[in-house]
Amino acid sequence: MTNKEIKIAYIEYESLDQLDADDRKTADAAVEAISLSYAPYSRFNVGAAVMFEDGEIVKGANQENAAYPSGLCAERTALFYASASRPDKAMKILAIAAGQEGKLCDSPATPCGACRQVMAQYQTKSGRPMAVILVGAKKIWKFEKVDDLLPLIFDSI
Ligand code: THU
Repeated sequence: MTNKEIKIAYIEYESLDQLDADDRKTADAAVEAISLSYAPYSRFNVGAAVMFEDGEIVKGANQENAAYPSGLCAERTALFYASASRPDKAMKILAIAAGQEGKLCDSPATPCGACRQVMAQYQTKSGRPMAVILVGAKKIWKFEKVDDLLPLIFDSI
């Protein structure tokens, strides 16, 4: 028997000013994308932005539906749109920001398990690490690759 341990590395910033230029642009786009959210049920507005390797950014936001499971998180909305509209481009950064009542949440919103699995596959499709930036008003977390948010990723088929 062997005891094993998995450690997760991430960086915490106190302010958006501390991010490098591409991270900052993507984080700003995620904050802007909060306004694209359609969340009449939860009133929890989430924005996401994907930056491709060439610097282009696309946005997504959570979309809710009266048939609740038919809605979709901001991350998957952005990732599916990114892949469906630019299928040949590699993604390099995903940023996520959440707001309530028109105000950016203090703490970063951490993505659900389904979104992490989808991120993992687009990272594989992109053939390069995809950084994930979780933006809060009081702190910002950066994960250099999706693996740090989803250790032991399912990628067997
Ligand atoms: N939501 C996201 O869009 N991303 C997350 O990381 C967490 C949750 C959405 C789903 C739903 O529309 C609302 O937030 C409340 O759960």
